[in-house]
Amino acid sequence: MQSLGLWQWIEKEDVGSTNDEALALSRKVKSGNYVVTAKRQNNGRGRRGRSWVGYEGNLFMSFLQPVELSKIGQIVFVVSLSLFESLQELFPKIDMKLKWPNDVLVENNKISGILLEKGEGDYLVIGIGVNLVGAPKLEGVLYPATSLQDKGYTVDRLTLFKKYVEIYDKNCRLWQEQGFAPIREKWLQNVKGLGEEIEVHTDKENKLGIFRDVDENGVLLLERKNGLEKIYAGDIFYIDKRK
Ligand code: BTN
Repeated sequence: MQSLGLWQWIEKEDVGSTNDEALALSRKVKSGNYVVTAKRQNNGRGRRGRSWVGYEGNLFMSFLQPVELSKIGQIVFVVSLSLFESLQELFPKIDMKLKWPNDVLVENNKISGILLEKGEGDYLVIGIGVNLVGAPKLEGVLYPATSLQDKGYTVDRLTLFKKYVEIYDKNCRLWQEQGFAPIREKWLQNVKGLGEEIEVHTDKENKLGIFRDVDENGVLLLERKNGLEKIYAGDIFYIDKRK
């Protein structure tokens, strides 16, 4: 284990899932902040029951930190914004947008995923995968994934990891000291589709509306005929390009 910023860092060669490693750690430790990274991940989990394909050379990292229950809706914005800002520092000219609730898009394609899972006590596991060298090429998906390398941007996983930790620590401090407002503001400035028509796919139905805002808990506010509707979970699609 080594110290890195606010974190105790554990680097593994092979794991099933870095989130599982962090969850197991949350059952052993009583305090402190930890992060687990792995060279290879062969059983990664994604959001909404999906799996996450792990190409060697991609970045797999899971942060373990205590987070109050009432703040869980906000932290995903700190996390995705920090990834956005890290990539922007490394590649100032990159064409990049955020996508609600927690994706980063490069040239309109998904290059990363974030999965939050509840650990022991008030520990939260924040799993982040970034496609640096490879992404699954799935036929017929509305929303294809890509890798930074496919788009012509090369960075090795530990360089991005260390940059991410530096920026995430800064944003966590900003969030702690000034609350959610400055994080939400920066996130909204860089999100795709704000003020535009989108389609939201929830577990139950698909809804069309205008993407108006996110509230103080990160809930999407969708303007529909009868007013603003709160969207707590789902996948969004942009009407113009179906992306
Ligand atoms: C998504 O579906 O968009 C979220 C994907 C999250 C993948 C990361 S990779 C590191 C961590 N370990 C996992 O098993 N999942 C997360």
